[in-house]
Parts: sequence; C-alpha cells; structure tokens
Amino acid sequence: MASNATQQPLLRLRGLSTCFSTHRGIVQAVKDVDLDVMPGECLGIVGESGSGKSVTFASVMGLIKPPGKITGGEVWFGGQDLVGLPPAAMRMLRGKQIAMTMQDALTALNPSMTVQAQLCEVILAHDEQVSDLPANQRKRRARDRAIEMMGLVGIPTAEKRLRDYPHQFSGGMRQRIMIAIALACKPRLLIADEPTTALDVTIQAQVLELIASLRREMGMSVVLITHDLGVVAEQCDRVAVMYAGQVIETGRTAEVIESPKHPYTQGLLRSIPNLDNPSAPIHPIAGTVPNLINFPSQCHFYSRCDRRQDACLQDIALTYVPDTHCARCLFAAA
Ligand SMILES: Nc1ncnc2c1ncn2[C@@H]1O[C@H](COP(=O)(O)OP(=O)(O)OP(=O)(O)O)[C@@H](O)[C@H]1O
Ligand SMILES: [Mg+2]
Repeated sequence: MASNATQQPLLRLRGLSTCFSTHRGIVQAVKDVDLDVMPGECLGIVGESGSGKSVTFASVMGLIKPPGKITGGEVWFGGQDLVGLPPAAMRMLRGKQIAMTMQDALTALNPSMTVQAQLCEVILAHDEQVSDLPANQRKRRARDRAIEMMGLVGIPTAEKRLRDYPHQFSGGMRQRIMIAIALACKPRLLIADEPTTALDVTIQAQVLELIASLRREMGMSVVLITHDLGVVAEQCDRVAVMYAGQVIETGRTAEVIESPKHPYTQGLLRSIPNLDNPSAPIHPIAGTVPNLINFPSQCHFYSRCDRRQDACLQDIALTYVPDTHCARCLFAAA
C-alpha cells in the first residue's frame, strides 16, 4: 500500500537521533531520521552494516540503554510520542501494539526457558482472550494458543516441541519462534530485523511468505530490515535506504530501484551481482563508511561520492522528486 495524503501514518519518526558515548568519543549512530509507516504497508529498510538500521528501531522500541541515548526527535505511534514515555507504558506497548524480532534469535530468546514458557508468558501478559479467563482455565488456554502460534509459523509437531529450549532448535526454527512470540499478541506493527539473514534460501522464502501472509490476514504494518534488495523488491511497498546513520533515500520500491536518485543507492544497485548475466562486472562502491565519531556537518557520502562539490560540505536536507520519492542529495532533482 503506498503512502497517500489522506491516510495518517501508524508510525512517524521525525528528526530521530541516537548517540552512544564511548571512550573514543560520541558515536552519532542515528541522525535526524524521518520515516513514516502507513497502516498495512511493508516498509523496507536497507543499508550496509553499521548504517543505523537496528539502532533506529531499537530507539522506537525504547530499547536503547546507556551508554546509548536518544538525543532528539519524535516517535509518534497511535497519537502519542514514545520518546520519554515511562518504561511501564512502553512495556505495555511492546508486544501488544509493536513487536520486534531481533537480528540474533539465539541471544534474543531466553536460553534458560522452554519455548512454551516464553510463548505463554507473552500470551498471558497481552492476550485478553486468555488473560481474562478464570485462573483455572488460563494456563491451558495459553498452552493451546502457543501450539496454535507454533503451527502458524510452520513448526511441525509443535505440541511435542513446546518443552524444548531455544538451543534445541535450528537457526531457521528459532527465527520462526521469535516471529511466533512477536505475533502472539497480534501487534499493529511488526519490526523484523534481518529475519532471514542467517537462513538458507528455502527457509528464507518460507519465513518471508509467512510474514506476508500474516500481513494480509491481520492487516498489520511491517518494517522489514534487510541487506537484500531482492527481498525488498519482492516484499516491500516502500523502501528507505540508510547510510552512516541517516535515511538518504525513500520512495515507492519501484521508484527507488528503477530510478535511484542518491549516488549511494545508485552504487548499491550497481554492486549487486546480475544472476541473468553472471559474467557481467560487479561495481563495488569505492572507499569505506565514515567513522561516525565527531562527524562533521556535511553530506555523509561525501568522501565516496564522484559528484561531490564544496556545496556538499554542509548538512544536506531531503529533496523531493517529485512527491513520494526523496533523496538527501543536492543533485537529486537534476
Ligand atoms: N552499544 C553500542 N555502543 C557503541 N556504538 C554502538 C552500539 N550499538 C551500535 N553502535 C554503533 O551504531 C552504529 C549503527 O549500528 P546498527 O547496529 O544500527 O547498524 P545496522 O545498520 O543495524 O548494521 P547491521 O547491518 O550490521 O545489522 C554502528 O556504527 C555501531 O557501531
Ligand atoms: Mg542491525
């Protein structure tokens, strides 16, 4: 579903900035990020390692802990700004309204609790159809629901595997369990951080199909964080490209992939191997991502850009080309 003027975004980030203080200085991990996620849409977030994808959404979830800190901006969800929301209110929202699956399923799951205990804990805390039942029925209903959720994410013989611990499952199964936990409360927004990176291609396709079908059935919005532009092309209505802590391009997926406006996005697309023509040369982007400690006010891509000019040595705003597609480049409209 594309963004349009009459619809209110479900999630709206404005000027979101997050820093980490380290012994070497302040790392500006996320700087001035604006993003909208519309009801029912799938927004892809791409960008190379360290570009700030996970930190942006950990900030949304209220999961940034010292030495990290949100230093500015707003995170609007359902009419309230989540920045500065008391931890108890944030906990209520997490799981119930917004759920996030973490990049690393093994560390995100509790190694000392069975899958049943972890799923039931979430269901009992957030699913009113279960928590409102009389005490003697609650536990059994939670267990039934846990089996239902495991079946939904394609875990065979769910009933038998409920008492297993996370390490007894394969990487693909653990990702699915995390998705089951995230979906157990039917969130309005699912943030999936690299849900398929560690998986082989067949399982990858199954997990993506699962997320897509649940989006269709439950009408939830999805933020899909990935390195893989192929996944974005298949799954996402819109895409935001991040580079060195900033969103440098956003638009409808086809707009961005077919007509990229930012030199970084152009380079990213040129650097993908062409499977139809494997002998075609690959063009990696020359140079490396800048160090984000005490980073100056300038275009973040300056040092690697072959179009750079002195005018780029200042903070660069997003230019709209024309209204649904924008890029953080002085020459975006050229
Ligand atoms: N706890 C921390 N302390 C210091 N710096 C941090 C911390 N967590 C993240 N960072 C820095 O924040 C920046 C953004 O990291 P982030 O994890 O968001 O990247 P990412 O885009 O998710 O990368 P990947 O694709 O590898 O998952 C990086 O420079 C990283 O080193
Ligand atoms: Mg990450």
